[in-house]
Amino acid sequence: MNVIGINGSPRKKWNTATLVAKALEGAVVLGATTELFHLYDLDFKGCTSCFACKTRGGKSYGKCVLRDGLAPVLEKIAAADALVIGSPIYFGTVTGETRSFLERLLFPYLTYTVPYGTLFPKKIKTGFIYTMNVPEERSKEVR
Ligand SMILES: Cc1cc2nc3c(=O)[nH]c(=O)nc-3n(C[C@H](O)[C@H](O)[C@H](O)COP(=O)(O)O)c2cc1C
Repeated sequence: MNVIGINGSPRKKWNTATLVAKALEGAVVLGATTELFHLYDLDFKGCTSCFACKTRGGKSYGKCVLRDGLAPVLEKIAAADALVIGSPIYFGTVTGETRSFLERLLFPYLTYTVPYGTLFPKKIKTGFIYTMNVPEERSKEVR
């Protein structure tokens, strides 16, 4: 079992990275191999809407054609058994880098069918870890 961790925070030793690393530590205890990637170490951009991944019969169908720092990570995720994505909350949502990562991860697999389908080769377990700046009491509030 191989588990990939993604740290979507610019800080490599603070809240998000710590929690993602702890999740991976737990996986190791259960016998998994793990790898942690810090998105801010990678030179990449979000989806450029080139649609190469949507050209049926093309060599990039279902795959992101961009060859940059994120490409090897996307390949490792395609072969992984589980994925843990962590991001701080910035202005109410995930960080820009996490958003760009999700665009690149998700769009190539999306099929424009009714209902939408996926070209991802298998189902894998995926966990999301969000960190933010609220006191515990406030985090229980229902809005
Ligand atoms: C640009 C920026 C925007 C933030 N926006 C929010 C927010 O909307 N809500 C919140 O509760 N915390 C917000 N925070 C606080 C972070 O989410 C919080 O400190 C987080 O745990 C930091 O994660 P890290 O230690 O992994 O970098 C923001 C922090 C920054 C730097």
